[in-house]
Amino acid sequence: MSAVLKPVADTGAAPIILFDKVNKWYGNDFHVLRDIDLSVAKGERIVICGPSGSGKSTLIRCVNRLEEHQQGRLIVDGVELADDVKAIDAVRRNVGMVFQQFNLFPHLTVLENLTLSPMWVGKMPRKEAEEKAMLQLNRVRIAEQAGKYPLQLSGGQQQRVAIARALCLTPKIMLFDEPTSALDPEMIKEVLDVMIELAGQGITMLCVTHEMGFAQAVADRVIFMDQGQIVEQNTPHEFFHNPRNERSRDFLSKIIGH
Ligand SMILES: Nc1ncnc2c1ncn2[C@@H]1O[C@H](COP(=O)(O)OP(=O)(O)O)[C@@H](O)[C@H]1O
Ligand SMILES: [Mg+2]
Repeated sequence: MSAVLKPVADTGAAPIILFDKVNKWYGNDFHVLRDIDLSVAKGERIVICGPSGSGKSTLIRCVNRLEEHQQGRLIVDGVELADDVKAIDAVRRNVGMVFQQFNLFPHLTVLENLTLSPMWVGKMPRKEAEEKAMLQLNRVRIAEQAGKYPLQLSGGQQQRVAIARALCLTPKIMLFDEPTSALDPEMIKEVLDVMIELAGQGITMLCVTHEMGFAQAVADRVIFMDQGQIVEQNTPHEFFHNPRNERSRDFLSKIIGH
């Protein structure tokens, strides 16, 4: 359990995400996820780490069906992800995602980037969409930049806009894929601070990151992946101070080493 934040995970209820023996291949013979069993409680905050190519992005992208698995069951917010397009849409409405590259539209203002999907996909009236967008921009402390274009902002500011955009869809689950890896060092903290704040607000979070300070501050659980498998999971304190698996130890010695 995190030392900084109060536990918000509801471990007694049905899991909000359940991977049950999930296997995935790219093409016919690249076995990228191997027998993934993972149960995430509502409100739980999970940090996923592991070497490059171990399948971290693939794992979280399966949760909103940006990637599909071939074997096993994956249930998100009570909906099994299979070929049913309606079910996939339902899940996507509840899952926000933030990528390493911010993926903002450069020709739209910050505010327009945030209202685009609620207005055109969610059919929300402009006024309401703009009010909601401003609330989220306030939440990531960037409301004063609403009229600017993404390229007029720093990387850290753009990533906070991307987080606000995901929050505009009021997701139950937020997926973060190395959200600070493309940022200059001086901008990492402002993004992590926003994520730490979110983590205190009860949203279920799956975050691929190697930011150990962040993991220690917010994660209920750290998951270590290697070669498509979950090879260790533990509290952040135990994982970072007392890794049990040889591959975790080797990985940690490398990330602490630089
Ligand atoms: N669309 C794809 N087609 C084929 N191979 C892929 C594809 N996406 C990722 N891979 C491969 O799958 C492995 C896991 O990738 P990824 O999930 O991105 O790992 P990580 O996020 O841990 O770095 C890597 O070897 C990567 O090259
Ligand atoms: Mg990745």
